[in-house]
Amino acid sequence: MIKPDAVADGNSGAILKMIEEAGFRIVALKLTSLSEERAGQFYEVHKERPFYNDLKRYMSSGRIMAAVLEKENAVADFRKLIGATNPAQAEEGTIRKKFAKSIEANAVHGSDSDENAQLEGSFFFSGLEMYA
Ligand code: CMP
Repeated sequence: MIKPDAVADGNSGAILKMIEEAGFRIVALKLTSLSEERAGQFYEVHKERPFYNDLKRYMSSGRIMAAVLEKENAVADFRKLIGATNPAQAEEGTIRKKFAKSIEANAVHGSDSDENAQLEGSFFFSGLEMYA
């Protein structure tokens, strides 16, 4: 997912380019937005964390771009490409190093397991959209 600040700043094209250049195939893509309630559902695993309410507000503050990506070893390689959650710790050459503004407004989200990638893909896309 490309988060609201990155979409609003006009960085989604540059981020998608970095993703494609790193060898990922975009198999589904959508410009959309989340209500606070939907954002809360997406980040349900974090509901006990102190940043959950802020995160819901931030994630519903503007348009986001949802994508399903395909590659060998996609989950681990995508996490490498995006860099650390906190951009202060993100390595040179990562998407977050380049585009993230803070630990919250950190430009992109990546799934943390194959199972969550399936669930998160289905959160945004129908089977037909993902496997067209
Ligand atoms: P993401 O990788 O999408 O997963 C959870 C999100 O919560 C994270 O990126 C940030 O946008 C946000 N967040 C805000 N504060 C924190 C924090 N202290 N630790 C982790 N994630 C945070």
